[in-house]
Amino acid sequence: MTNKYMYFIANWKMYGNTKSLNTLDKVIKFSKSKEINKGRLIYCPPFTLLSSFSKKFQNCLIDIGAQNCHESNDYGPHTGFINSKMLKNVGANYVIIGHSENREKGETDKIINQKIQSAIKAKLKIIFCIGETLKQKKNGKTKSVLRKQIKYGLNKISKKTNLFIAYEPVWSIGTGKIPKMKDLEQTVKFIKSNFKEKKPKILYGGSVNPNNIKYLKTIKELDGFLIGGASQNSKKFIDIVKKTYN
Ligand code: PGA
Repeated sequence: MTNKYMYFIANWKMYGNTKSLNTLDKVIKFSKSKEINKGRLIYCPPFTLLSSFSKKFQNCLIDIGAQNCHESNDYGPHTGFINSKMLKNVGANYVIIGHSENREKGETDKIINQKIQSAIKAKLKIIFCIGETLKQKKNGKTKSVLRKQIKYGLNKISKKTNLFIAYEPVWSIGTGKIPKMKDLEQTVKFIKSNFKEKKPKILYGGSVNPNNIKYLKTIKELDGFLIGGASQNSKKFIDIVKKTYN
C-alpha cells in the first residue's frame, strides 16, 4: 500500500471522438470520491478533443494535457501543427514530449529540446518520455541511451523546471510486456542519479494495466504512471488507480 501522491496520466494517442466524452462520467464520479485524494488524474486526449475534455472536467480536479506540440512557441506558417500557447489556450496544463512513437518518425533530441523550451515558455508542465528499444536493451545500452536522451533533451533547460520523466521502454509499449521489477527499480534510480539538484518526478509507462499494477506499484521511487491502451477504458483506468492504493 502506498501513501504517496501519485500521478495517473492517460495517453489516448490517436483514439477517441466526441462520443468518448460519455465514457468519462465514471472517472469524474471517481475523481470526487475519497479514494483518489492522494493522487492526480490527467487526461491527454488527441488535439481535437482538448477543448471538450477541458469543459467536461470543469467542475472536478482532473487535469488536461496534450500529446505533443510544435517546437516554436509563436504563431506561424506551419500547416497542420499546434504550438504550446494554443494548447494552454484550450485548457491544457501538461504536454507529453519525446514519445517514442514520435522519435521513431524522426523527432530528434534537438527538436525535443526545442519543444520543451517552448512548452516551458507557455507554462505547460512537461512529461518528457525516454526509453530504450529492444535492440538497445539486448546490447546492454539502456543506461547510455537514457543518459543521452536526458542530456540532449534537457540541454539548457533550467534545473529548477518542474519535470516529469516518463520512462517508457519502447519494447514495452502496447506489447503487454513490462520490465523485471529489479531492472525497473535500478533504471528509475539511474534516471534520478542524472539530476544533481531538483529531482524530477518519475513515471513508468508501457503496458500498465489492472493486472500488472500490483508489481509496478512496489517500485517506491515511482511517482506515477503514463497509461496508454488501458486508459481508454474508464473501468480499467479506475482499477489501476484503486489498486495502486490498495
Ligand atoms: P501502452 O502505452 O500503455 O498502451 O503500452 C503507453 C504509452 O505509449 O504512453
